[in-house]
Formats: sequence, C-alpha cells, structure tokens
Amino acid sequence: MPDVSRRSATAPASPIRRLYPLAEEAKRRGKKVYHLNIGQPDIPTPEEYLQGIRGADVEVLAYSPSQGLPEAIEAFRAYYAEWGIELAPDELIVTAGGSEAVLFAFQVVCDPGDQVLVPEPFYPNYNGFSHLAGVELVPITTTREEGFHLPPRQEIARLITPRTKGILFSNPGNPTGVVYREEELELLAELALRHDLFLIADEVYREFVYEGVHRSVLSMPELRGHAIMVDSISKRLSACGARIGAFASRNPEVLAAARRCAMARLSPPTLEQLGLAAFMAHPRHRDVMLGMVEEYRRRREVLSEQLSHIPGVLFHKPEGAFYMMLGLPVDDAEAFVRWMLTDFPGEETVMLAPGEGFYKTRGLGADEARIAYVLKEQDLVRACQLLKEGLELYQEVAPRAQV
Ligand SMILES: Cc1ncc(COP(=O)(O)O)c(C=O)c1O
Repeated sequence: MPDVSRRSATAPASPIRRLYPLAEEAKRRGKKVYHLNIGQPDIPTPEEYLQGIRGADVEVLAYSPSQGLPEAIEAFRAYYAEWGIELAPDELIVTAGGSEAVLFAFQVVCDPGDQVLVPEPFYPNYNGFSHLAGVELVPITTTREEGFHLPPRQEIARLITPRTKGILFSNPGNPTGVVYREEELELLAELALRHDLFLIADEVYREFVYEGVHRSVLSMPELRGHAIMVDSISKRLSACGARIGAFASRNPEVLAAARRCAMARLSPPTLEQLGLAAFMAHPRHRDVMLGMVEEYRRRREVLSEQLSHIPGVLFHKPEGAFYMMLGLPVDDAEAFVRWMLTDFPGEETVMLAPGEGFYKTRGLGADEARIAYVLKEQDLVRACQLLKEGLELYQEVAPRAQV
C-alpha cells in the first residue's frame, strides 16, 4: 500500500475529539456521559433560522456564488452594522464555518515555513490548520494567574522574526474566556503596524462577553490593511452543523486572495445561508442572540460556584465565550480524563478536554483541562459533583491506576 503524506500522517488529532472512542465505549456500557469537552451547545437552534431552511423555495439545490449568496452577505452586513461595523458587500466572504475562514486566513497570510504568533492556550484546531498549511505557530504564553491576558510588549516583540507574518488570536478567547482590553488590542495593532504583520482576530464569540467590552479588529481604522476577521454563526445561533461563517477584511489584496481560495471550494452551504438571511430578517433576531448570552452568563455563575467547592481545582472566572481552563490536582490530566471514562464507578461520568493540546509549548497544560459550559444548569451541577467525586477517588487510586 502507498504511504499517506507525512503532512497528513503527522497532523495533530484534536484533543477535544481524540478521546471520543472512550466516551462511546462508556455509553455502550450504559453510562451517561456529561460532555463538557466540546463547545456543542444544548440550546435549540432558533426556529426563525430553521424556518428559513424549511421554507427555502428551491427547485435545484445549486451552488451559491463562491463568496456567498447575496442574501447571506446582506445578512452578515446587517449583523455587523448592528455592531457599528460598516462593511461593503465585497469586504466579506461567506465560508463553511469559522473553520474554513481560519483555513483561508492561513492560506492568504502565509507561505509554507512562515510563522504566526498566537496567545496560548489557544483553540487547538489552529494547530491542525497551521500544520496542514505548513505554518509554524509561535506561542505567546499566557497564564491563569494573569487571567490569560497578554504579557508585556517586549515578551511579544521578541518572538517576531523575519518569518513572522501575522498574529492570530480569538477574542473572546477559547479556551481561556479572556476578553482583550482596549490597551491590549492597541498593543497588538501597534506591533502589527510596526512589523507589517496581519492581525487575524477570531471573533466567533463576539457577543459572549460578561465582563469588559468587545472590540472588533474591523473597528480599528488604522488596521485597514492589516486586519482579518474570522467569524461564525455556529455558537451565536447554536447552529454548529449549519457550517456558516465569514472571512472579512478591508484589504483588497487579502480579499482577492481569499476569493481565490473560495473559488477552489466552489460554494458554502446554500440552504444554511438562506436560513441566515431569514433569521436576520426576523425582528426578534437580536433578542434571540442576546437571550442565549444571558443563558451562558447564568451557567458561568453556576459553574464558578460549583467549581469553587472542589478542592485543588484552580480557575480564572472567564470574561467571555463559554469555556474555562482548569488547573487540576493531578499530574497528568489526560490520564485522569481517560480514567473518568474507563474506570470511574457508577452510572454517570463527565468528560473534559485534556489541557496539553491547547498549548504549543511542551509540558504546559499537562495538569489542566478545558471545560465547555454548554449544558443546562442542573447538568452542570451534576457534572461538577461527578468531577469532585472523581478527583477524590482518583487521588486514592491513581498511584495504582498508573502502574
Ligand atoms: C475560537 C474558535 N474559532 C473557530 C471555531 C470554529 O467554528 P465553526 O463551527 O464555525 O467552524 C471554533 C469552534 O469551536 C472556535 O472555538
């Protein structure tokens, strides 16, 4: 048999999904698994969106234009206008989720061998996408003690080399929940301008802000030529399966390059774009989105309260998004996560995402795990009870479990 490419053979598996087979096996044994490992919200997708898909009057389910259906582009523009961001129709491209927008960003910004700085811990699929694009991610390490905010300027500046092409960050942050302050965005903008780098902001959690204020890179006029924004409806419409996102910029060359990437894959999903157009045309759309944010705000409170009762668990209360990076009282969080799925007794268990895959720096995150608070309050409470019991038991049996 021929060998597969080294590039695909060495691509990192997502730490969010890698242990799924163990969860599936646990379920086959009749166990209920509380999934706190993945940002798949349990909130119903708004009827206004689904109605748009059901009511779509199509005879042929055709490709849409590569940059998106005019209706979907208008829907995104209307959405951004509500955030005070005016975009021309040709300044955004509809993508297959935020994922494809990230992929386009790497393709547009970098050649193989180039580098992109990224605050760590970061969304692990950045690893997968950069690996496939032949791009090296260079981590800007942030810590729980500092609330995962950026380190001082000189620590970032010293990472910039002639191969650095951009800085990528998610704001609000997955997995940290950080919401960057005005002065942090100004620092990144200043570095981008001084060193002529692209600033790629992943803003898929734009409205999920509980402390502080979100500022989009597209609202910084000095970044006209340098800013790229990556976006998605997956979370704000609880529509992860729709696969609708956006790539936006005000730089004509960036847009032309991204359109070429878009042409190669022909079209984003057609029906789901129609769903978005219908949703945005509905007078309640803003209330629906903000209602979801309120739900997560409550969950964040419940989760923080519950976690504060678990001895040895460390966390920074997230300012945004719906994740928390936990410090756990174990040496090897992955072994603990596995054990919760394979050996934890009883009818129920909880699944977290082991922390190491959220870091580029070797050794960091080994005693951490990410929680996605995407379950309803009573499930979060139960999951925290299970986590507490699991940690207590594991600390007793771990020395034996690990031999
Ligand atoms: C920070 C961040 N960016 C991008 C994505 C990808 O989202 P999508 O479902 O739109 O591809 C996610 C999904 O969890 C995310 O957390």
